[in-house]
Amino acid sequence: MTRATTALMIVGLALAGCRGQVSREPPIHLNPNMDHQEKFLAQSANPWFKDNRAMRPQVPGTVAVGELRADDHLERGLGGDGKPAATLPRDLRLDRAFLQRGRERFDIFCAPCHDRAGTGEGIVVKKGMLQPPRFADPRLRAMPVGQIYGIIAAGVRNMPPYAAQIPVADRWAITAYVRALQISRSAGKELVPPDVLEQKGWSK
Ligand code: HEC
Repeated sequence: MTRATTALMIVGLALAGCRGQVSREPPIHLNPNMDHQEKFLAQSANPWFKDNRAMRPQVPGTVAVGELRADDHLERGLGGDGKPAATLPRDLRLDRAFLQRGRERFDIFCAPCHDRAGTGEGIVVKKGMLQPPRFADPRLRAMPVGQIYGIIAAGVRNMPPYAAQIPVADRWAITAYVRALQISRSAGKELVPPDVLEQKGWSK
């Protein structure tokens, strides 16, 4: 065995012998970056503040990003006077796509109780749930859209709220569709587009 091989073996054995040993020294860290610096850990004390807490409470009035919800008309269906608004919020456009979206969401979320035509005789009612009023009822026809929006968001008496399932824009789309259903119950021929009249054979 040459001297060099012996030396290598000794070094190798010496290094292997270090494994598994406990040491109080930090491991060798060739490039420390900014891994180790002074900081306050969660729940630790900081005498610099009067209450001694390093974790600072939120400044009163703090609002999380996207949680401001300052627009009363859009978010709560309220007009300037604090009463239910009679119009759609400014940024929403009442067009065919909007009503289609409302119809789709209505059929999912409302039809089980209210029925697809808003008669209040949905499948759940047939199984014993309390019957909701007909949307064509004069009292409901006279409701401002902001009130219908509010009912979707907060529920009313025996009807549960749907704010958790239905986002703001969809609540308005459903509201617009409820209005369309109401109008459809007593619409004259003059409100039906000519091509539909033709197609259904109602033009005579
Ligand atoms: C689980 C069944 C159920 C579902 C789903 C439901 N409703 Fe209702 N709704 C009711 C009942 C019951 C009432 C009657 C509440 C009462 O007067 O106690 C009602 C009442 C209403 C009223 C009239 C409130 C009044 O003042 O008389 C409106 C408008 C309405 N619902 C809209 C909706 C819309 C829009 C949806 C879909 C987002 C919906 N509802 C989903 C059961 C339901």
